[in-house]
Amino acid sequence: MDKRNFLKTIGALSFSPLLSANELSKTFSIKNKLPKIENDEELWKEVRSHYTLKDEYINLESGYYNIIPNPILENFIKHVKHVNVEGSYYMRYDLKKNKDRITSELAKLVGSSTDQLAITRNATESLDLVISGFPWKEGDEAIYAKQDYGTMKEMFEQISSRYGVINKIISIPNHPKNDEEIVSLYESQITEKTKLIMVCHMINITGQILPIKKICEMAHKYGVEVMVDGAHCVGHFDFSIDDFNCDYYGSSLHKWLATPLGVGLLYVNKKNTEKLWPLLANGIQNKSDIKRLNHIGTHPVHTDLAISNSIDYINWIGIKKKEERMRFLQRYWSDKLRNINNIIINTPEDINRSCGIANVGLKNITPSEMSKILMDKYKIFTVAIDYANVKGCRISPNVFTTTQELDILVEAIKEMSLI
Ligand SMILES: Cc1ncc(COP(=O)(O)O)c(C=O)c1O
Repeated sequence: MDKRNFLKTIGALSFSPLLSANELSKTFSIKNKLPKIENDEELWKEVRSHYTLKDEYINLESGYYNIIPNPILENFIKHVKHVNVEGSYYMRYDLKKNKDRITSELAKLVGSSTDQLAITRNATESLDLVISGFPWKEGDEAIYAKQDYGTMKEMFEQISSRYGVINKIISIPNHPKNDEEIVSLYESQITEKTKLIMVCHMINITGQILPIKKICEMAHKYGVEVMVDGAHCVGHFDFSIDDFNCDYYGSSLHKWLATPLGVGLLYVNKKNTEKLWPLLANGIQNKSDIKRLNHIGTHPVHTDLAISNSIDYINWIGIKKKEERMRFLQRYWSDKLRNINNIIINTPEDINRSCGIANVGLKNITPSEMSKILMDKYKIFTVAIDYANVKGCRISPNVFTTTQELDILVEAIKEMSLI
């Protein structure tokens, strides 16, 4: 290449599409692209128009994970393309800045600080990291509930076989009289050997919300730590993790925050960071740095970038408004089915003990038959739950669900109760 051509090539390269982290966040932001809507009914119509929904069935199974609205999806695809164009330049120069920025956006959303938060791949990783990385000694005790999530319970079984930890398992009533009933259930199992309580912020099979702050206050009096499984809570309703004063909190962001699949959050109270063992080893020497706990090597960083879009989207709706809508949708159908012969609502009636998710069972039909009839005859997609004290279908609508769809559910369940 002669000198002239060489200079031309360098000139062209300097106009290559490399953007700084700040420019990038502006270019890919959806903040100013979403319309300002004052009227609530108009807002929910606009929200629904952002989703590509299947005609074949009514989706009342958003609890597994949320499909994401098109404004987020389109940006996610842009992030994938951008990171692909940049190659390792992105990893070397922009990754850290972006991750720090997104962590601080998340900190605002969940009411905590960046030095106590890490972005993980899901709630399973966050919570299993704490259970497996806890400095267990033989004879230590842990407490959790039958209604907790399978893979966390299995991790407690694994550490029991591995370290000789004794697990105490309680059962949460579907209709507690008050907070004290729940708190004293956990308290009744505490001994001087108890080290850790796992508790669901929202029980996934019934949607029951537990009194986390009171459980933490009680446990801390005995010097027992509390790990909260909040898989269903971030982006679903408004709360502050710092306000709970819990020790650990794990959530899946691909559920109610509607990020692309493969994003979770881990909160570790900064007094506990040093004592946990990371899931995977890494070179971070500072033991109080939370980043030490979730170094996972090269991973799909474009997915992390989309978290920012999901936060913008939820801020556009307003987390309080979303909470109200989710609770309204749940009560819209569940209140119409309470106190009817053969129908059992497995979720507390107290408005503060649930939000968008609830569970309904039938005395005359098993849960698996019930979900099959709902799908085959009424084209309603739900999931059957049949364990512990819960027999029924979990109903999890979403911000795109209409009351007309819920009317179809109500009529279907009423008809089925007469079979
Ligand atoms: C209560 C609860 N905890 C943890 C999880 C695990 O979430 P993920 O599969 O996203 O890791 C779930 C998933 O449904 C859940 O419902």
